[in-house]
This record gives sequence, structure tokens and C-alpha cells, in this order.
Amino acid sequence: MSDLIEGFLGKSVEGKKSRLPAKLDFVQSATGLFLGLFMWGHMFFVSTILISKDAMYAVAKFFEGSAFLNEPRPILVSGVVFFVFIVFIVHAAMGMRKLPTSFRQWQVYRTHMKMMKHEDTTLWFIQAVTGFAMFFLGSAHLFLMLTQPGTIDPYGSGDRMLLLWPFYILLLLSVEFHGGIGLYRLCVKWGWFEGSDAKVTRKNLKKVKWAITVFFLALGFLTMAAYFKIGLDHRDNAGERYHPSAMVITHMNVGVKS
Ligand code: HEM
Repeated sequence: MSDLIEGFLGKSVEGKKSRLPAKLDFVQSATGLFLGLFMWGHMFFVSTILISKDAMYAVAKFFEGSAFLNEPRPILVSGVVFFVFIVFIVHAAMGMRKLPTSFRQWQVYRTHMKMMKHEDTTLWFIQAVTGFAMFFLGSAHLFLMLTQPGTIDPYGSGDRMLLLWPFYILLLLSVEFHGGIGLYRLCVKWGWFEGSDAKVTRKNLKKVKWAITVFFLALGFLTMAAYFKIGLDHRDNAGERYHPSAMVITHMNVGVKS
């Protein structure tokens, strides 16, 4: 009965409002923080291709359990992707609550944004648009990684980049703007790194945010170019798996002996 009253009036019989929205906000922040930090790690792992094909191959095999198994198992990567996918879906569901849902709401928001010319309000708009784009782009990428973990190696990733580079450009731009703004907003919302003057803190946080975004965009585009080049050089043998240089030399030596 009390649920019914709260359902109609938006307040419990004692006149209290539900704490659920605050709890959901916390879940949104926590999943966002996890995904933001995950993306930093992800970009460093993926960019090992800039060191060498063997370095990227070693990282890919590490995630398949090469350090503790006789045979690397791509299913382990699927397990990690599955977990990240769940966090991604929960985060998207929490974010959905904040999106304007009718033309009128969009109109009101955009009018406020143009009138106020307040940078944080504009940043929120960019975050909402890139978040919406990632519903599709992020899900498609995660589904590919979930279902084809065995194709993650310098050649497999290169083949994919050659085919899907427009998709990856959109994904990279969305992720870096969304993630950068998201982490900045987390700091402002929960008062992390807050100094004595809130205005100065925001200004400094914004500087750091832009520096991080520019750094990861530069790293991302360089990494993309490296995979694209591998895909291009390898296009006549697309689908072939990569064998690290040390393994090729061993095979050659075995071949000479026999
Ligand atoms: C555990 C989950 C994930 C794995 C195993 C993974 C793996 C990879 C791999 C191997 C690549 C290289 C290209 C390819 O092989 O297709 C890549 C690129 C990329 N991934 Fe992921 N990814 C994961 C999650 C995500 C998520 C959640 C996002 C963002 C929503 C994301 C965004 C990107 C972007 C933007 C690139 C292009 C990077 C560049 O600029 O070079 N990934 N990922």
C-alpha cells in the first residue's frame, strides 16, 4: 500500500523521497570510473603495436593465459570482455536516465546551453551525444571481441583495422571525449582533488582533462595508423594468424636440422 502511495505522489507515507535515484547515480559513477580507467589500460595494451608486432602479440597471449597455461586460451579473453560488457551495459542503462527523451526537452536544453554559454553545460551535451553513439559503436566492438578473441594478434587486428577504420575513428573520438569529460565530471561531482577555491580547481581539472584527451587521441590515431599499415601490407594473406619472430626462427632451425 505504501508503495502505491509513493508511486502516485513521489513521496512515502512519512513524506520522504526515495533514495534510489542517489543510489543509481552512485552506480553510474562507479561503473563510469571503472570503464574510464579500463580504457586507459586498454589504450596502452593496444598501442604496444607501436613498439613491435611481437610486443603486441605477447600482450595478446598474456591475456589468453600464456603465463600460467601450456596452451593460450582465447576463451579467457571472452571472459574478460563479458565482464566489461556487463559493466558497459549497466553504465549505459544508468546514463539513459539522464538523456532528454522528447524533442521539447532537447529544445529546452539546447536553448539554455546557447544562452548560458557555460562550458560545463556544453560539455554535458557532448557527453550525451558521444554516450548515445557508444551504445552502438561500443557494443559492436565488444561483440566482435567477445565472439572472435582468437583473432586478436598483429595480423588479425591489422586486417580488422583495414576493413573497419571509419568505425574505429568514430569509436575513438566518442570514447576519448566521453571518457575525458566523464572523469572530469566525476571529480567535480564528488569533490575529488578539490582545493580551497572551487573555480580554480575546475580550471585546473579542465586543463588536465584536455591534456589527457589530446594524449589519448594522439596515441589512438598513431596506433590505428600502425594497425592499418599492417593490414595493408598483409592484405593478400588476410585471415592468416601471426607467428612471433622467435617462433619463426625456431621453426626454421628445426626445418634445417631435419
Ligand atoms: C575487454 C574488452 C576489450 C578488448 C579485449 C578490446 C580489444 C581491442 C583490440 C584488440 C583492439 C585493436 C583493433 C582490433 O583488433 O579490432 C581494440 C581497439 C579499440 N578499442 Fe577495444 N577492446 C575492449 C573494450 C573496448 C571498449 C569498452 C571500448 C570503448 C567503448 C574500446 C574501444 C576501442 C577503440 C577506440 C579502439 C581503437 C584503438 C586505436 O585507436 O587504435 N574497446 N580493442
